[in-house]
Amino acid sequence: MKALSILATAAAAVGLAASVSAVRADTIKVGVIGPLSGPFSIFGTNFQWGIEAYQHDHGDKVGDDTVEFVYRDLPGVDPAKSYSLAQELVVKERVQYLAGAYFTPNALAITPLLESANVPLVVLNAATSSITTSSPLAVRTSFTMWQNSVPAAKAAKEGGLTKVITVVSDYGPGVDAETAFATTFTAEGGEIVESLRLPLSTRDFNPVMQRIKDSGADGVFVFLPGGPPTLGFMKSYLGNDLKSAGIGIISTGDVMTEPDLPAIGDIGIGLRTTYHYSTAHDSDVNRAFLKSIAAIGGNVDQATMASVAAYDGAHVIYKMIEATGGKQDAAAAVKAVEGMSWESPRGPVSIDPETRHITQNVYLREMQKVDGKYQNTEIETYQAQPDWGLVKQ
Ligand code: PHB
Repeated sequence: MKALSILATAAAAVGLAASVSAVRADTIKVGVIGPLSGPFSIFGTNFQWGIEAYQHDHGDKVGDDTVEFVYRDLPGVDPAKSYSLAQELVVKERVQYLAGAYFTPNALAITPLLESANVPLVVLNAATSSITTSSPLAVRTSFTMWQNSVPAAKAAKEGGLTKVITVVSDYGPGVDAETAFATTFTAEGGEIVESLRLPLSTRDFNPVMQRIKDSGADGVFVFLPGGPPTLGFMKSYLGNDLKSAGIGIISTGDVMTEPDLPAIGDIGIGLRTTYHYSTAHDSDVNRAFLKSIAAIGGNVDQATMASVAAYDGAHVIYKMIEATGGKQDAAAAVKAVEGMSWESPRGPVSIDPETRHITQNVYLREMQKVDGKYQNTEIETYQAQPDWGLVKQ
């Protein structure tokens, strides 16, 4: 009888241990905020494709834990909505990680709540340098305007431009792009003849084209957020014959994202931009990445910088979960990825331990038509570029 009860107690203990370990195998939720509807929806969809491609390649488990991504739609610039979505994800969905943010103001609205929520934010697009300084729990796998605009200014000078007019959207990344370009271009001996800042809502660029023509510039540097504004600007630039009037254009790749290339058409062939990712990047890792995008039902012809930032963002989050054994410890999670390096579909990358921003190659690209399809062909490499906005040159 006694022996039996000892056995029963032992069995109960084993059962308890089994159920404890079953409880330990948690679902770890990651909240992703981005534009899934509206005029910028292709970029939120790209976040989703990148994440799904990563889980297709690496599974949905880290150790015993299952990683689940939950999405919230934020179509435009709306900091108040961004804050409330992040709060809802943290409080109601109990996410351990946040990711996303296409627009800078939406990212800056989230960073103040990270520390009290004990949640890291992995920025998948927003490109103003100061985002990662606004919270020690912000890490970025996309790019910054400084990172891509410094090479743009060098390429402009090397390409023979001497007098440039800058045109930017009047908000964080526009101001960063303007400052980065002007600082570098003048240091290289060039001249900025005029600097225009446009309201973010600008969609009619024809009046701007007249100002560009009147400025006496031989080149224009432009930054607008990728999507309908950039396509509108490019169509206006090409339609107003600025190219044939001898006013060159040099810009970051935000104005030449892959989904817009067919709408720009043959007239855009030869246009040069600087950027950290082209779907035409010539590497096995990139070809495998695009195959995975296709495998999860994504459209490879519409893949952009946002899908690669999300793919790498998922990689960083998996590493954070692994390093913390699935426990919620945002500071330890972030510490674990500082200095981490890997081969991304865009080329070799690492997380700068000081700035928590991604160091990467920036490529000079030229729009070409290859086998009947438009692409941004990488023709020159600026190796291992940091965020020049946060690291002294
Ligand atoms: C931003 O708001 O930070 C932003 C948005 C779109 C871009 C680049 C930067 O293409």
